[in-house]
Amino acid sequence: MSTPAPVSTSAPAARKKVTTLTFRHKKERREPITMLTAYDYPTAMAMDKAGVDSILVGDSLAMVVLGYDNTLPVTMEEMLHHCRAVARGAKTALLVGDMPFMSYQVSVEKATRNAGRFLQQGGMDAVKLEGGRERADAIRSITRAGIPVMGHLGLTPQSVHQLGGFRAQGKTAIAAKRLVEDAMILEEVGCFSIVLESVPARVAELISKRISIPTIGIGAGAGCDGQVLVTHDLLGLFDRFTPKFVKKYANFHLEMQRAFADYIEDVETKRFPAQEHTVEMDDTEWDSLLEEIDHRN
Ligand code: KIV
Repeated sequence: MSTPAPVSTSAPAARKKVTTLTFRHKKERREPITMLTAYDYPTAMAMDKAGVDSILVGDSLAMVVLGYDNTLPVTMEEMLHHCRAVARGAKTALLVGDMPFMSYQVSVEKATRNAGRFLQQGGMDAVKLEGGRERADAIRSITRAGIPVMGHLGLTPQSVHQLGGFRAQGKTAIAAKRLVEDAMILEEVGCFSIVLESVPARVAELISKRISIPTIGIGAGAGCDGQVLVTHDLLGLFDRFTPKFVKKYANFHLEMQRAFADYIEDVETKRFPAQEHTVEMDDTEWDSLLEEIDHRN
């Protein structure tokens, strides 16, 4: 674990709303773009105050919050529910809603309507969807509707069964060439940015240099234009497994367990609640209550 950065708890200086233009300018200026996932109001608020550029309400919700084995079961309604909570907490970061499995694969029309719901009903600024050339028509239609789209290439978890597991992608020359082509297609059809997940660092760097829109890496090395991590991994909140590419900045799972155990012990040994946690009643009110009760008896 690294030395903690100083945190100011006073009101942060007002930051300008981050937009897709900010993303573009940051790439031009070679300033790394920061992105994290969030699924609830307090986390989004803390992240926004810390100054993150973008918050992704990822479909990783399915695994790290709802406890599923993969991202496939999460629905539009569940995603929108969590998007609204995040939107209430974060006012500055660019908010990206992750389109869940089967919300954009069936038809271009359904994809466009569902993308619109993320902005209209979820309070998001943009959507993200997985896939390359096979998503070109859907992305074209969504962006034509005025909705910014973030692409997602490499390890695309919604295709976990097709990929044969959560495994790195683009490791052969042929697979890497296809990734480069897909990234160029996503740029051409209007994506404002692309997530590259679990691809060799040199492939991610090559893609980042070939396209003018920013790449956001997760397990894709330092050559990307920005980085994203699943917050529950970064905080050590998700105990089931931690991918190799994650840097853990805390161990909140253990910290929670410790706090819960302390609480249980305090209640069992009657150390909690103490005087300072107790609501007092004025003596005169108390005396009249007793009088009143005695009277009735
Ligand atoms: O759902 C998610 O959290 C994601 C990130 C891994 C990029 O797609």
